[in-house]
Amino acid sequence: MEAWVGADPLLGRIVVSADQIAARVEDLGRQITKDFLDRPPLLVGVLKGAFVFLADLARAIDLPLELDFMAVASYGTATKTSGVVRIVKDLDLDLTGRHVIVVEDIVDSGLTLSYLRKSLLARNPESLAICSLLLKTGQQRTNFDVDYVGFEIEPEFVVGYGLDLAERYRNLPDLRIYLGEEPE
Ligand code: IMP
Repeated sequence: MEAWVGADPLLGRIVVSADQIAARVEDLGRQITKDFLDRPPLLVGVLKGAFVFLADLARAIDLPLELDFMAVASYGTATKTSGVVRIVKDLDLDLTGRHVIVVEDIVDSGLTLSYLRKSLLARNPESLAICSLLLKTGQQRTNFDVDYVGFEIEPEFVVGYGLDLAERYRNLPDLRIYLGEEPE
């Protein structure tokens, strides 16, 4: 373990290890490769949390693909979304006729994704799928399906592998429980 990780009392146990993530990302990549064989996808990464997952997933997909990024900010507090989302960085590409896969880090209430999904569907993609590394069990307040899920986890606050707490911990290789107070 990295020295700084061991020395941080706010970092708890590993929820999903780097090895488990790597194996699951390979599975997801294989599945997406199979499903999109005849229609190469455009991966849309939702910044910033999905940047590590997207980098690994893109390389696990054995197809010619396109990549684009979006950044969103929630009007909620740091850890609870209100469902009202502002697009901070929009896509460069036009979605018309493209097979889009939105790549997210985590679905909690699902409100962020629900807003994004509506906004992207209005741009006439040929198809729209959603891939999230994590899904918090029993938390969703929305009724659409997440097509590809890496892991279902208990509703605890996690950091690492791209996920942050106030911009920290994104570079942790494992996903860990954050033991500190979640900022309101
Ligand atoms: P939702 O709209 O409630 O689904 O929240 C989704 C967003 O909240 C994610 O894209 C993350 O930015 C953030 N989030 C929710 N749970 C966690 C967590 O456990 N760790 C880090 N960020 C989280």
